[in-house]
Amino acid sequence: MRLPERQLAVLEAASATDERTVAEIAAETGLKPETVAGAAFDLADEGLVAVGSATDETLELTDEGRSYVEAGLPETRLYRAGLDAGADAKPVSMGAVIGEAGLEGPEVDIALANFARKGFGTVESGELSVDPDADPDADAEATALAALADGDDPAVDGDVLDQLASRGLVDRGESVTRTVRLTDDGVDALMTGVEATETVGALTPELLASGEWRDAEFAEYNVEAEAETARGGRKHVLRRTADRVKDVLVGMGFQEMEGPHADADFWINDCLFMPQDHPARTHWDRFALDVDPMEGIPDELMARVEAAHRDGWGIDGDGYHSPWSADFAREVALRGHTTSLSMRYLSGVAGAELEPPQRYFSVEKVYRNDTLDPTHLLEFFQIEGWVMAEDLSVRDLMGTFEEFYRQFGITDIRFKPHYNPYTEPSFELFGEHPETGEEIEIGNSGVFREEVTGPLGVDCDVMAWGLALERLAMLTTGAEDIRDLHGTLADIDFLRNAEVSY
Ligand code: PHE
Repeated sequence: MRLPERQLAVLEAASATDERTVAEIAAETGLKPETVAGAAFDLADEGLVAVGSATDETLELTDEGRSYVEAGLPETRLYRAGLDAGADAKPVSMGAVIGEAGLEGPEVDIALANFARKGFGTVESGELSVDPDADPDADAEATALAALADGDDPAVDGDVLDQLASRGLVDRGESVTRTVRLTDDGVDALMTGVEATETVGALTPELLASGEWRDAEFAEYNVEAEAETARGGRKHVLRRTADRVKDVLVGMGFQEMEGPHADADFWINDCLFMPQDHPARTHWDRFALDVDPMEGIPDELMARVEAAHRDGWGIDGDGYHSPWSADFAREVALRGHTTSLSMRYLSGVAGAELEPPQRYFSVEKVYRNDTLDPTHLLEFFQIEGWVMAEDLSVRDLMGTFEEFYRQFGITDIRFKPHYNPYTEPSFELFGEHPETGEEIEIGNSGVFREEVTGPLGVDCDVMAWGLALERLAMLTTGAEDIRDLHGTLADIDFLRNAEVSY
């Protein structure tokens, strides 16, 4: 039999009676561990060796654990400082001892809890007594920490280890060791005699130029061998969804809007015919900012919006007959929706006066004082958009959504009549979650009322919407909890593996 050199070396180093680890064989043959592992898998394919694996517990000191190896456990430091202060004879004040022990911040609580648990002494009404018979030098946790710091697999009692792990001083992990053992066929092969072939691992320009490649024997690659997972950087699921949304909307002829996250209530609410005493405008729902009022809102526009609120707009219009204040309109808050941007663009303050037809969108962050739950975040992204044209109807809106969501493979959106102070008619959009089958709300939309478009100086129809980017991402990735997507509770494994399907 002929085998590549490295396989032969591994075969010869393997034993029929003992499992030998890849590391042992590597040390003996002088080959790299990954070369040994690769050769072992090749030999296993030929039935000459059996490759096994054993999982071992690994123990590693955390940063906190390591710091105590140097400085001593907090409870031991407290004990020693107490002893120095004479707390074995009569109780001494805690404050002084803590200072002497050099304990700071969370270390104080750690010291006190473990001091009591280990019976080093007692603390009563702010005074510390130490037990002169206690022996921190013989403390099992301290001894184990020191042994772990010295390394080389010390034997540590299971209970002590549990304690150290629960204190966060030791991290428990797992390591997989591969082992190799000769099979009967392997033994037979060695008895009959195996010859080494020289194999070429890589084709080089020299081999080609010299023509030697013609006679060379090439090493075979085992592309199924287990390898470590390499994790590179990756664009966040939400960012990829947002990028895709932008591509789709630009493809549908939309232009992108931009504007401030902290904006005047005028743009966020007043332009939208939201009465100033609307519940959504109270401090419970909005994130008001303690900054100077916003300057630069055009006076005539402000007057027209005020008139719509007070007296209504158009022949049959009626106002709210409730107080309206320009000062409140100028107050600044974090925007609760990006419809503030639509107002800026429709009014013409964001750029040129717009003539129909126009299509605009944004994919931007909004802020709401909601309660966190699986479908709500305090900050999320809205896909805002509007179309300005003569004679728009609800069919145009529905058709736009159907076209948009189809690009993400979503063909079963549903519409429900709704109410917004600023649109008539209005409707909410729902989509079916691919995992739970639940109908989830994915957006809100409508045709702007005359009370909105009139004061802005727009005299044709404008249909508009705000869709939730995170909800779209839930439908395309199957995420069941919005908090898996972003924020402090984000699920790293999910973010690593989720595909944005479209
Ligand atoms: N501003 C609405 C929201 O945040 C969405 C919307 C925008 C509805 C424009 C109608 C028109 O829910």
